[in-house]
Amino acid sequence: MRIFSGIRPTGNIHLGNYLGAVKQWIALQEKHECIFCIVDLHAITTPYSREEMQKNILDAATIYLAAGVDPEKAIIFVQSEIKEHTELAWLLGTITPMGELQRMTQFKEKAKKHPEYVNAGLLNYPILMASDIMLYKADAVPVGKDQEQHVELTRTIAKKFNQKFGKTFPEPEVVLPETGAKIMSLTNPKKKMSKSDDARSCIFLFDTPEDIQKKIMSAETDSGKDVIYNVTKKPGISNLLTIYSLVTGNPIKEIEKEYKGKGYGEFKKGLAKAVIEYLEPFRRKQKELTTRDVYVKEILNQGKMRAQTIAQATMQEVREEMGLT
Ligand code: TYM
Repeated sequence: MRIFSGIRPTGNIHLGNYLGAVKQWIALQEKHECIFCIVDLHAITTPYSREEMQKNILDAATIYLAAGVDPEKAIIFVQSEIKEHTELAWLLGTITPMGELQRMTQFKEKAKKHPEYVNAGLLNYPILMASDIMLYKADAVPVGKDQEQHVELTRTIAKKFNQKFGKTFPEPEVVLPETGAKIMSLTNPKKKMSKSDDARSCIFLFDTPEDIQKKIMSAETDSGKDVIYNVTKKPGISNLLTIYSLVTGNPIKEIEKEYKGKGYGEFKKGLAKAVIEYLEPFRRKQKELTTRDVYVKEILNQGKMRAQTIAQATMQEVREEMGLT
């Protein structure tokens, strides 16, 4: 099976990105051929800093490595370095109905958030994502819940291509984690944890222990004082329980038992300690890697060459099938 996934290089990566996507990658790379991309062309569809882009790309690569992506096992590369992504996106655009793009939840949300920045790239975002996946003929795409709709659209596009031009692409499956597919914001647990929100709403993988402590202690909780998992009545505590369970490996039921009658304060202190411990190896590895830029760049370069071979072969096939050679 071939796996493809990616993250936008928008600065820091948070616990939601890790628990929703990257943690799955680490397990999948042991058994499958994996390709993990830094999707800079997607990152420029919302406001971004041109000056910080190259640093953010390197940081993203460092994060992949610090989180455990193994360049011996998986291909890591930068999307814009392989021109075939945009070429295939154009071709797929000609078989993608406009209506499908306009109904995408992320398009609507992002357009609402940045009304001054509703560009055609934002609308076409899912086509480029389909192109990322299809260029490598990926069978499965490990992502968080918010990307499920985009992967479904990729299936639709792949099916349409196959019907029109002959069987070429697999219809890729979305792979969601059992728990953690949607980690919620610390300041508003009815919304997902998101990089573009206030820093207090996210725990970043490389936050200092002091920051983690502060953010968790001031996380929004619900009325009452019992630590009980109930997403409708207690969205805040339920989100924190999910995180607690994921970083310790203890089932939620056991954590509820441990904090029975102890109140939210004690629970949050325990959670902060658990998250700090969980993220400690990430911080250590990141520190080590930030001094090794040349090594990280070399990995991206190797990744580019390996990815390019696959991408060029697919494009050759697609051009022929579409009557373009
Ligand atoms: P991005 O950069 O927004 O997010 C990266 C990954 O993190 C997951 N994620 C979450 N999971 C759980 N809880 C959350 N609060 C949370 N927030 C984010 C996302 O689902 C994603 O898996 N369009 C993609 C990048 C992309 C891509 C691709 C992914 C481009 N091409 C091809 C897969 C395959 C994105 O913006 O992810």
